[in-house]
Amino acid sequence: MQIRPSTAEDTGAIIALYPRAFPEEDLVPVVRELLEDTSTTMSLVATADDRIVGNVIFTTCDVDGSDVKVSLLAPLAVAPDCQRQGVGSALVHDGLQRLQEAGFALVCVLGDPAYYGRLGFVTEKGVDTPYPLPAEWGDAWQSRLLGDVKKFDGRLLVPPPWQHPEYWTN
Ligand SMILES: CC(C)(COP(=O)(O)OP(=O)(O)OC[C@H]1O[C@@H](n2cnc3c(N)ncnc32)[C@H](O)[C@@H]1OP(=O)(O)O)[C@@H](O)C(=O)NCCC(=O)NCCS
Repeated sequence: MQIRPSTAEDTGAIIALYPRAFPEEDLVPVVRELLEDTSTTMSLVATADDRIVGNVIFTTCDVDGSDVKVSLLAPLAVAPDCQRQGVGSALVHDGLQRLQEAGFALVCVLGDPAYYGRLGFVTEKGVDTPYPLPAEWGDAWQSRLLGDVKKFDGRLLVPPPWQHPEYWTN
């Protein structure tokens, strides 16, 4: 398995991955928008035998009232026949390393703490989501610090692909 930044030629294969990994959620519109918005996103693919078996996208965001560089991890998908073989973890680790080298201070994620906790993410209380989350999702908002930075608070300011309240409340 290899990990590399995706190119425009990978778009079709990345888009095809999502309905297979998430049969009950339609992530294709946001994935398409994120892949088009290359000025604010970093998309990585995992390949095996020249086939794309995983994708993760990181979006550059701001925090209101702060000048730190923050990234939002979403979405992450691994082909069903390749899950539980370390592909998702490898994509996240590779992305975190690239972001750390690029000077990002924090990576946020809205996801299952059982999965992201294993990757070093902890509940985030200082940086707020762009839209209020349902109360029962409290522990799903997590982050991982990448550098030795002072604590900062504020609302996460996301670029247009993430400015849809329904992505944060469903
Ligand atoms: C969730 C997902 C991205 C994980 O990637 P992966 O390559 O399968 O996971 P890894 O091999 O890196 O890690 C496997 C470990 O993560 C945990 N894990 C895997 N999927 C999980 C899930 N949906 N929820 C909680 N923990 C999960 C398991 O503990 C597993 O370890 P085990 O096999 O020893 O029990 C992938 O399974 C996937 O695309 N699933 C369908 C879409 C989805 O649910 N996405 C949610 C992302 S928040």
